[in-house]
Amino acid sequence: DSYSLLILPGDGIGREVMAEVRKVIDWLGANRGLTFRVEEGLVGGASYDAHGTPLTDEVMARAQAVDAVLLGAVGGPAYDDLDFSVKPERGLLRLRKEMDLFANLRPAQCFDALADFSSLKREVVAGLDILIVRELTSGVYFGEPRGIHADDNNPDNEGGRVGVNTQRYTSGEIRRVARAAFELAKKRGNRVCSMEKANVMESGILWREEVQWVHDNEYPEVELSHMYADNGAMQLVRRPQQFDVIVTDNLFGDILSDAAAMLTGSLGMLPSASLGAPMANGRPKALYEPVHGSAPDIAGQGKANPIACILSFAMCLRYSFDRAAEADAIEAAVERVLADGVRTADLMGPDGGTAVTTGQMGDRIVA
Ligand code: NAI
Ligand code: MG
Repeated sequence: DSYSLLILPGDGIGREVMAEVRKVIDWLGANRGLTFRVEEGLVGGASYDAHGTPLTDEVMARAQAVDAVLLGAVGGPAYDDLDFSVKPERGLLRLRKEMDLFANLRPAQCFDALADFSSLKREVVAGLDILIVRELTSGVYFGEPRGIHADDNNPDNEGGRVGVNTQRYTSGEIRRVARAAFELAKKRGNRVCSMEKANVMESGILWREEVQWVHDNEYPEVELSHMYADNGAMQLVRRPQQFDVIVTDNLFGDILSDAAAMLTGSLGMLPSASLGAPMANGRPKALYEPVHGSAPDIAGQGKANPIACILSFAMCLRYSFDRAAEADAIEAAVERVLADGVRTADLMGPDGGTAVTTGQMGDRIVA
């Protein structure tokens, strides 16, 4: 099989961690007979330096054409004073917007060897593997009307102003992210828990009804449950292993996925994906990237942990290419290397030890 990939290393440690992903890609090509047609492009500050824009139309068009996009990180102090219209993150925002990536995937996966890094007790998180699917392009962050204005006819309002946002979801927006969640569940534990506040929000009632509709009509074989999002927050901390896939709206997903991230420890370990509508070949539009940024404080020193980016590529294999065996193999290799005590600097505990470099970590995972 042959897969086309656009690799956008970006800035800072984005370039360093992506070099380690290239080692994994080369290994799969040589040992598992997978053919990757890999193109590279510029994004963020690197693109600004070369072309005066954080994303050229040419790279944008290539992103739309490939099977999947893999991105490192963008940004850095050299670009902090640029006009907002050409800031590095605008390149990333343009990719997400024009590819219409409405489903943001944030796994919370706790490798046994790192369970003591979690904010929770080892027995609660060891072996944890859940996936939060957050709706990314609608909801209260985008809904109209919005604004801050004078509260004219309300003399009792001390300060005299009102701030307004609108939580608004169409049934179509809910159904498409629900479909994404059910599809993902089929490649994992076959269970979806949908979270909203149907007890107090109209959009929550619609959310619950539409997710149920997609389930009953299209995915009756996947187990579906519903939970109020506040209880969901509690349950994530109390007994996170009860979940497989969680699907929720933009606002709740923002908060719940950050909370879930801390169940697992270091920022250098967290992968993510953003998916859009299926393309002609049936694969979803997809962008895979580590959660972390360009880490200027350690860039260029060989200190970056490449695991978040390598696990993002494993997600690409699993969710874009239906290559579960290879994705499992990468995750098992990461697990094994961590169990052997191999650590980049961000994974060193208080009792110290010797950290490996970015390149050494990549080599160990490949080995
Ligand atoms: P950051 O995620 O780059 O770094 C936060 C802290 O975590 C730093 O101390 C860094 O050294 C450490 N860290 C991050 N990733 C690591 C890794 N793989 N291995 C070891 N340590 C790691 O966030 P920060 O410092 O707030 O932002 C730095 C730049 O990155 C800014 O320009 C920001 O705009 C940009 N950024 C870009 C993102 C993206 O491309 N998606 C996301 C977040 C920030
Ligand atoms: Mg957030």
